[in-house]
Amino acid sequence: MRFSSRQEDRLIDALTALYCIIGNPVSHSLSPAMHNAAFRALGINAVYLAFKVDEEKLQEAVEGFKAIGVRGFNVTIPFKRSVVDFLDELDEKAAKIGAVNTVKAEGGKLFGFNTDGMGFIRSLEEEGICYRGKNVLIIGAGGASRAICAYLSEHCNVTVVNRTAKKAESLAADFGLNWASLDDIPSILASFKEGDLIVNTTSVGLKDEDLELFDYERLLKPSFVVVDIIYGKDTKLLKSARKIGCKAVDGEGMLLYQGVEAFKIWTGKNPPIDVMRKALKSSS
Ligand code: ATR
Repeated sequence: MRFSSRQEDRLIDALTALYCIIGNPVSHSLSPAMHNAAFRALGINAVYLAFKVDEEKLQEAVEGFKAIGVRGFNVTIPFKRSVVDFLDELDEKAAKIGAVNTVKAEGGKLFGFNTDGMGFIRSLEEEGICYRGKNVLIIGAGGASRAICAYLSEHCNVTVVNRTAKKAESLAADFGLNWASLDDIPSILASFKEGDLIVNTTSVGLKDEDLELFDYERLLKPSFVVVDIIYGKDTKLLKSARKIGCKAVDGEGMLLYQGVEAFKIWTGKNPPIDVMRKALKSSS
């Protein structure tokens, strides 16, 4: 093995451990930059790559990872729920959420975890946002929403709204929350008080840039906290919230801290958070 004393000169060799992310699309992912920076900083002989996987090839990809001894991987859109079928065990939280974003290989088995909710909470805490006891409106009922709801349901009065109302109803039933349709947002926000939170977990803002989930100008009040978990982009929701005077937070902190938790699961080590943050900032 050829290791130089200078970390940046370290070479990939036959002992290099492989970690990766699978998704489709995945080329926008900042996880490789973040995790490779952390591996380098800690002198860990590992590399993290991104693989775009066709939807019908998910099982083959996961079995291939197992066969070649990939140490761990992240899972992103659209596989967070479907990957569960190909794993050996889930931790308690991932089982409750029904979705996995982090997989660890150990003893020939694949173990699934979900660090998205923890990442979300840590990003709120870092921003000094108090969420305990607050009213929270969660927009969207997909995998990301489920992960966030699993954590917030323990501390807040959460209402989930979704374009497909049935999905909001079923998510709310799983976590003991309130649910409503997108049309109910005006009446929900009318009862909101200072410091209450609005969280967008939908892809509106990423894909449908001009679409509004509700009338932002009319319904947002300066005392609200607005979180959009999309990262690397100033969405219309965040721009409007800032203009009105709300505290507005994007998804970069959530991305960072879900990665921090994944790194700990894989390596058992505390990663250098500032190095990971710097890698995110310089690649976005
Ligand atoms: P993720 O795993 O990232 O949460 P997802 O499971 O595909 O992704 O969920 C996407 C969410 O964005 C869903 O809540 C979806 O609403 P539907 O359940 O009705 O599909 C929501 N979404 C996507 N496009 C939307 C749009 N144009 N308007 C409102 N909600 C939208």
